[in-house]
Amino acid sequence: MTPEPGPAVPDGDAPGAAIQLRAPVWHGELPSTNAYLLEQARSADPPPTGTVIAARRQTAGRGRYDRRWIAQPDRDLAVSLLLRPGVDFPRLASLPMAAALGVAAGLERAGVHASTKWPNDLLVGDRKLCGILSERAEGGPAGAVVLGIGLNVNMRADEAERIGQPATSILLETGLEHPLEEMLALLSPHLEAYLERWRVGGFAALRQEWTARCARLGQWVRIGEGPGARVGLLHGFGPDGELLLRGSSGTIQAIWSGDVGVPG
Ligand code: BTN
Repeated sequence: MTPEPGPAVPDGDAPGAAIQLRAPVWHGELPSTNAYLLEQARSADPPPTGTVIAARRQTAGRGRYDRRWIAQPDRDLAVSLLLRPGVDFPRLASLPMAAALGVAAGLERAGVHASTKWPNDLLVGDRKLCGILSERAEGGPAGAVVLGIGLNVNMRADEAERIGQPATSILLETGLEHPLEEMLALLSPHLEAYLERWRVGGFAALRQEWTARCARLGQWVRIGEGPGARVGLLHGFGPDGELLLRGSSGTIQAIWSGDVGVPG
């Protein structure tokens, strides 16, 4: 399907330029907005920083750790942003956390209070509302990063039950349906503002807010699965967004990647 181009906006590719999100380009169907934008970013004619690609339907939506991302066609939001933040690991690790806070701030306007689940999910209670996937187009600090956001907007209860993990949507939380374009327009200024705060001040600028919204702070958690899983108290977050896990002996370990689960 031919995309509908958005209007031109000032160029944001100069090094050190503020993050500015462009008008979204909507597609009827894509395998994955992240895969599409990564391919574009690696092409000879890459799109400008701040490009926003949205799809009404994804046929191969993907999540972290090569999981599938299931969204309801025309009912849930699938959107990817192209950024060139000019930083490398470890600072880059907290970029999806900034995006999660931006989405959470926008969701407050839609009457939904979500908590953050490290490193990049939004939950209401124990139910997942939004997942974020950050992928690099190439290595090095100058490389492009694609930030994909999957938000359950109008997912119904029977659809949520078929996901295979506890899920919720804005519709289920508020009883209100939202056109996807409207929801993206509502979220965009908040996303932009949080990404810019992160660009200027790093995770340190967002740490307090992240911690205040964080699910399971002070609780026993399990990071990862199987024999390599670590169990401890969720103590807090370090200056670059790393999770601080407190073991039973009182030692604190910094963890840079993984999934937070409940010890079972
Ligand atoms: C996760 O929770 O594992 C992350 C899910 C990210 C899903 C979004 S939907 C838009 C973008 N395109 C994809 O294929 N994935 C991300």
